[in-house]
Amino acid sequence: MIRFILNDKLIETELPPGSTVLDFVRYHKRLTGTKIGCREGDCGACTILVGNFEKDKLVYRSMTSCLMPLGNAHGKHIVSVEGINLPAGMAALSPVQQAMVDTNGTQCGFCTIGFVMSLTGFVLKKNAKQYSEAIAAIDGNICRCTGYKSIERAAEILSQKMNEKPGQGTMAWLVKQKFIPEYFLQVKDRLKQLREKITESATETGGQKLMIGGGTDLVVQKALMVKKSTVQLLFDAGELQEIKLQDGQCFIGGAVTVTAFAESELIQDIFPDLEQYIKLISSTPIRNMATMAGNIVNASPIGDMSIFFLALDSELVLNGNGTRRTIKLKDFYKGYKQIDKTIGETIEQIIFTPPQKGSFSFEKVCKRTHLDIASVNSACQVNMNPDRTINDIHLSAGGVAPFPKYLSATAAFLKGKKTDADVLKQAIDILNTEIAPISDARGTADYKRLLLRQLFLAHFKCSDELINEVIRG
Ligand SMILES: Cc1cc2nc3c(=O)[nH]c(=O)nc-3n(C[C@H](O)[C@H](O)[C@H](O)COP(=O)(O)OP(=O)(O)OC[C@H]3O[C@@H](n4cnc5c(N)ncnc54)[C@H](O)[C@@H]3O)c2cc1C
Ligand code: FES
Ligand code: FES
Repeated sequence: MIRFILNDKLIETELPPGSTVLDFVRYHKRLTGTKIGCREGDCGACTILVGNFEKDKLVYRSMTSCLMPLGNAHGKHIVSVEGINLPAGMAALSPVQQAMVDTNGTQCGFCTIGFVMSLTGFVLKKNAKQYSEAIAAIDGNICRCTGYKSIERAAEILSQKMNEKPGQGTMAWLVKQKFIPEYFLQVKDRLKQLREKITESATETGGQKLMIGGGTDLVVQKALMVKKSTVQLLFDAGELQEIKLQDGQCFIGGAVTVTAFAESELIQDIFPDLEQYIKLISSTPIRNMATMAGNIVNASPIGDMSIFFLALDSELVLNGNGTRRTIKLKDFYKGYKQIDKTIGETIEQIIFTPPQKGSFSFEKVCKRTHLDIASVNSACQVNMNPDRTINDIHLSAGGVAPFPKYLSATAAFLKGKKTDADVLKQAIDILNTEIAPISDARGTADYKRLLLRQLFLAHFKCSDELINEVIRG
């Protein structure tokens, strides 16, 4: 039995946990405000808000309902656009809806609901006030007719209103200002009561189970299969959600989402440039669902987190029915979509030693800045002496091989060498023997080699003169 609150109503359903929240909302509850566009997480027309406890606080995050497994709604507050409408009789729009009207931010209206939900997600975020944060909140929404300027003006109006938002009693203020209806004030207690009643998990038991994290890869690729399968829901597995530093090593649970990783103060301290890396990865609603283990197991040749963790020389802890083993991430990938994991093994943790400050960098080139997968991406951890002699280096690249590639020969060559033009030129020659890019929609093989050369040089923060010497000889 899956139990959750949908808008202001308690839901109890025995529908398959692998079916989607989108289909449940539209076809079982006839709440047709939520739209179906791409069903691949790309357009944002199906955006909903999901309220969940994070360290005892009820936090709302935007998610794409087309990819969200119904089982992942268990114990949560799901808000569709109908759930932010003011009660019948109060014929008024919420300030978010009104801002879209006032700025002509809607034409055919198909995308509008998604924008309204994402912007409502922005106003619900406790400390979010800045215009840049409002714009970031709609990075997963696409509009085909209006043009983004009018929607940006709506975001501007809302960010100005957020200056009045108090740090305490935020929810009550939002209700008073009619951003959300009054029933939101009872949701925290209702969810607590609901969770006390929920003793069993929504996970079905028995037989071989299909593991599922956020569903942002699986549901895109195999929606029907997921719906029909017996699933093991890992998204809410508390023991897989931990981020900790212990005995000089950093432990990341397999079910940690990209958002949780990005918002962790511990991780931000280790990677000072984290925010700029994360902005390049998918979109806000996808990052709110996408887990670390999902990224690694999907084994996409351009998986951003896989490339990130490879350059940290990370290890994986796998658990198969209580039997644990640890392997290097670089040994996990065996070929295109071939990984060293049995069907029943769960990725419990990713472990790495925090890099020295300033020694790590991540680079990604895509056809557009946001909501796009990489043409080529690369990460590097390099410890250099002041005279630019390399003590230690780990290097990875995506989009240039059938799987996320650890560039072992290039790294071995560079160890102990001084990074002058000659050495870098030789390293690039070796690098080119390690990769085998193919020509596809993201660029020709030659272009990808060229991109990787540029990203490789970017890791070393070379001067313009040095780059010129390497490239032009
Ligand atoms: C619109 C869109 C944009 C995207 N953009 C990017 C991008 O910019 N960069 C990028 O790298 N990726 C991107 N992705 C891909 C995807 O979001 C990530 O790969 C994500 O990390 C997958 O995590 P998940 O939890 O959703 O995986 P799921 O879909 O739940 O699972 C993926 C695979 O991992 C397995 N699995 C999940 N958890 C575990 C576990 N703990 N142990 C063992 N196996 C497990 C599942 O069985 C499945 O085989 C995008 C996806 C979408 C839909
Ligand atoms: S329908 Fe396009 S993101 Fe869900
Ligand atoms: S108003 Fe038509 S798609 Fe945005």
